[in-house]
Amino acid sequence: MKQIFLFLFCALGSQYMVHAQTSKLIPIETKRTVLLYSVGADQKLYQSYLGVRLLQPAEYTSLGTKNFEAYLTAGTSNLFEPAIRAVHADNNPSLDLQYVSDEQTKLDDNTTLTSIKLKDPQYPFEVVLNFKANYKEDVIEEWTEIKHNEKKAVKLYNYASSMLHFDAKEYWLSQFHGNWAKEMRMQESKLTSGIKIIDSKLGTRADMYQTPVFFLSLNTPSDETNGEMIAGALEWSGNFQFTFEVDEQNSLRVISGINPYASDYVLQPGKVFTTPSFIFTYTNLGKGEASRNLHNWARKNGIVDGDKSRYTLLNNWETTGFNFDESKLNGLFDDAQKLGVDLFLLDDGWFGNKYPRANDRAGLGDWQETTSKLPNGISALTKSAEQKGLKFGIWLEPEMVNPKSELYEKHPEWILKLPNRPEKYYRNQLVLDLSNPQVQDFVYGIVDHMLTAHPSVAFIKWDCNSVIYNAYSPYLKDNQSQLYVDYVNGLYKVMARVREKYPHLPIMLCSGGGGRVDYGAMKYFTEFWPSDNTDALERVYIQWGYSYFYPSIAMCNHITSWGTQSLKFRTDVAMMGKMGYDIQVNKMTDSELKFSQEAIANYKRLSDVIWHGELYRLISPYDENRSVLMYVNENKSKAVLFSYTLNLRYGDTFKNVRLQGLDPQKKYQIKEINVVAKPVFKSTGKSYSGDYLMKIGLNVSSVQSLSSVVLEITEE
Ligand code: DGJ
Repeated sequence: MKQIFLFLFCALGSQYMVHAQTSKLIPIETKRTVLLYSVGADQKLYQSYLGVRLLQPAEYTSLGTKNFEAYLTAGTSNLFEPAIRAVHADNNPSLDLQYVSDEQTKLDDNTTLTSIKLKDPQYPFEVVLNFKANYKEDVIEEWTEIKHNEKKAVKLYNYASSMLHFDAKEYWLSQFHGNWAKEMRMQESKLTSGIKIIDSKLGTRADMYQTPVFFLSLNTPSDETNGEMIAGALEWSGNFQFTFEVDEQNSLRVISGINPYASDYVLQPGKVFTTPSFIFTYTNLGKGEASRNLHNWARKNGIVDGDKSRYTLLNNWETTGFNFDESKLNGLFDDAQKLGVDLFLLDDGWFGNKYPRANDRAGLGDWQETTSKLPNGISALTKSAEQKGLKFGIWLEPEMVNPKSELYEKHPEWILKLPNRPEKYYRNQLVLDLSNPQVQDFVYGIVDHMLTAHPSVAFIKWDCNSVIYNAYSPYLKDNQSQLYVDYVNGLYKVMARVREKYPHLPIMLCSGGGGRVDYGAMKYFTEFWPSDNTDALERVYIQWGYSYFYPSIAMCNHITSWGTQSLKFRTDVAMMGKMGYDIQVNKMTDSELKFSQEAIANYKRLSDVIWHGELYRLISPYDENRSVLMYVNENKSKAVLFSYTLNLRYGDTFKNVRLQGLDPQKKYQIKEINVVAKPVFKSTGKSYSGDYLMKIGLNVSSVQSLSSVVLEITEE
């Protein structure tokens, strides 16, 4: 292989090298990026470079003015945060890793897997660093496998999915945080020396307070079109941790993985511990490009059926809550039919007999129809929906149990709770012990039974409303510290079984709003519920935040009665994703119903562009009192632009917005759609070249608070 030269340099235990010593290079390449590793004469693995790919791979030998030890261990000379820490079978707390071998396998035309094997020279303990490079999408997936053949079990304390090194002048971190109804709020800050940790300890779900995604900009903050940066996300639905450590040399290490908090893991000889994947994209073209890379990757690899279509629907949660029966639902089917949506989604409250689910204090766990509400069961509902030309979907929360339930009475040993303390409830419920294979079977059985008993059920909303309180598993006995990891792996086992039998069933991932939106779970889901907050003004920000990392086809946006904005504003906001309704259709005026029917028809015509096209965020609601974004299809023949005017201040005016992503050579006609009474956009019906639209732009925004404009842009 190629040769480079390295000199070992130790500063305060941070291991890095400059120049000298014969070595070998391991490049992990995508279309525009290379992550370059090298092996030092000391047989250690170093990260030599992460950045724009060079045209001549021969010049990789000149890269790596600073080479950072790739996957730092603990217990020898590294005194910074380690990627891995283990205590051997003989109680020796140190770990040293040396390069053994590497292998590159072409998985298909677009994907290459690189595996680099490292081993402790003193112990039969090895670590394999895996990198899956998605060439066209510029996305690298990274995960680690740990195994040993020591005489007894080894205890793992830290086991990162990834450790990446950066050496820039400044580091700017965008993190996303929130709470119920306040999901995905963005904060950007400059990293200072020391450690910044973003993590979650909620157990069942990765986010809610902090989310497992971030942007990291190098040297200066990035905007939508400029800036050197990475976008990262962890594929894990439980406790996660991102550690950003700026050292005394102003170098940065980013460690991503499962949260080591209360999660020591006992690894038996011969067993493999596999971490979840950390996925990232590097770009020097700012946040817009980073998002498009992730969206392109996600539609192919990150979500179920990202290249296919989705159902429009009417949901009943906001309008009925728990208060419904068969006749009321039949009335709602009529409403769904009138609107022209594809599916009716029955939410929480349809089950439980000894303890009927009349509110959120009872019934969870008892998945039989409440006979007083639904005397003819789900079969009658699916039949009636079918007769009205509708598909039927249903809500489940199979991981949970109310103390007031038959399940609780029958199987107390299936529930996470401390043997010697009072139970603590989150939304009046407890969490089932998914580390227990019997519980996994039970949870799988709930879904499977629903779908075998009612083969025409065409959609599931999978909810998860509780965090893990009472973190004690009756099943795990002396290995309690494995609960957080085994719970999530148990959930994934269930979901893998569901997907094996029902590969294409649309399943919405919901978690008391957007508490569990992450790429670990999304592998098994077609879409997610971003927030219970459907106030359209709030949604502009929430959806903007999610759009950084998740494709629109996966984002369920419902038009409801939250907020005081016009139906048009609410509809236009919901359209930039997977549109649905949760509103009293029978209270709509004739003109509102007509507007909605036309909007659904418009949406059906444009959904291919919104779901599968490229997203360009043009004006951020964090920068101006408006938000403008557009989607362009692959061959640049069709685009759709959404402009939302927020709460204006006195004297606010708006400048032209330059469009992006069009073909400068093509001519496009611009037409305003979802029009109420008369168009707001002055130039509706006019045509412009892509060149003009991208260089000069259009005055697209209305100057009335909480109003919106949607433009259909069609090649002539
Ligand atoms: C929380 C979800 O976010 C809501 O949409 C709804 O399904 C309720 N749970 C039902 O309990």
